[in-house]
Amino acid sequence: MADEWSSSLDVHLDWTPGLGRKGLAKAVRQAIRDGRWRPGSVVPSTRALAHDLGVARGTVTRVYSDLAAEGYLQTSQGAPTRVATAGAQPLTQPRPIASREPAMRWNLMAGRPDAALFPRDIWLASTKRVLQHTHNETFGYGEPRGSSVLRATLSAYLGRSRGVLADPARIVICSGFAHAMTILGNALQSVGIQEMAFEDPSFNRFRDLAGATGQKIVGVPVDGNGMRISELTSPAVVVTPAHQSPIGVTMSPDRRATLTQTGAVIVEDDYDGEFRYDRQQVGALQALAPERVIYAGTASKTLAPSLRLGWLVLPRSLVDPVIAALATSGAQPSLLDQLTLADMISTGAYDRHVRRCRIEYRSRRDRLAAALPQHLIPQGISAGLHLMVPLSEAAEAQVPTVARRHSLAVATVSPMSMGEKRHGLVVGYGASSKNAFGGALDALLNVLRELQD
Ligand SMILES: Cc1ncc(COP(=O)(O)O)c(C=O)c1O
Repeated sequence: MADEWSSSLDVHLDWTPGLGRKGLAKAVRQAIRDGRWRPGSVVPSTRALAHDLGVARGTVTRVYSDLAAEGYLQTSQGAPTRVATAGAQPLTQPRPIASREPAMRWNLMAGRPDAALFPRDIWLASTKRVLQHTHNETFGYGEPRGSSVLRATLSAYLGRSRGVLADPARIVICSGFAHAMTILGNALQSVGIQEMAFEDPSFNRFRDLAGATGQKIVGVPVDGNGMRISELTSPAVVVTPAHQSPIGVTMSPDRRATLTQTGAVIVEDDYDGEFRYDRQQVGALQALAPERVIYAGTASKTLAPSLRLGWLVLPRSLVDPVIAALATSGAQPSLLDQLTLADMISTGAYDRHVRRCRIEYRSRRDRLAAALPQHLIPQGISAGLHLMVPLSEAAEAQVPTVARRHSLAVATVSPMSMGEKRHGLVVGYGASSKNAFGGALDALLNVLRELQD
């Protein structure tokens, strides 16, 4: 019985029983000409196709032999019938999706971890454990706010590692910070907030996502002590207090305290809080005011952006609006991945992985900082996966052309500015593989040598 259906394939044919044998031949011919039945591919067995269409097997056999005679099909004794290579029209090639980055040999783009550091073995071991022990419910839709197992695990982990006060009931799992921007833009609208302030400069993408929800987006300048809180007037604000993106400074303790007293809803983007190299970690702002601060974390730097896994720790009053916005966003990270991450954290494998990455990124940062020409002083603290090198306006303007000549992908600051333009390079030392980092660094130094003030 199994053999009988072994060559059964689901196929679509524009054919109805009223069209008869000729109509069936025409439909198969058309499928081949359109390229829907690909040259060289096996066609359904006569028995299977006859069954699926509800016609006599002999009808399909005759159609196949007619089409073989016409050169559309290839039949041979003892082998399955295939579409002949002649007769089919070539499919139009899908247009390549425009890449946001030019294809350069060396990559120092900010915000990317080294994909080669992804702990494949550990992820595999955790996935295996999850699949061996999980209930069948895991294969259903799951809880809208995210796996209770991951939320409980994150509650303990965030308290221990970042000082976050995180009751599992106030944690929501989302598809990274980008998704959080859409969810929070909508959730804040639902509680009457229609304006969100962002640090100036900051990554445009997150501002655009929040703006697309109808929020008015306002910039507040950043200086050496972080966002200038005295200039903040919006009812909600997105900040990167532990390591400003892209400038790299830490928000000063008095500004942190003042910010929590402004009355604004604060979104704390703790995107690289795990990577601190030259001083004690700066604890999360959230601990100062858990009813005012939305803490946002992500697996994009410690593991991989492709996981699309992030988490929010919410003030009590925002839990329901955020869950409602999450539900209408239509997106949710895979429950299996959530459980895998929970397993990694609870077995200690995640901490060990983060420590290994910290050592690697720290050594790259030290190499980079030591190699920079003396007159270029990186701004900010030793942390994260990027550093900012201030440049003059004239020098920054030459970067795209000179970097292209050296096949180097690297970002500049002024496109991230909203008001007064800041100028410089944002050098990401995570994006390269370990082996390519030396070459990328040489390319950067060559670029810097050629820039003229
Ligand atoms: C400032 C900042 N926040 C958050 C993220 C993480 O975004 P996501 O979780 O959507 O990958 C990044 C990643 O580049 C970032 O640079």
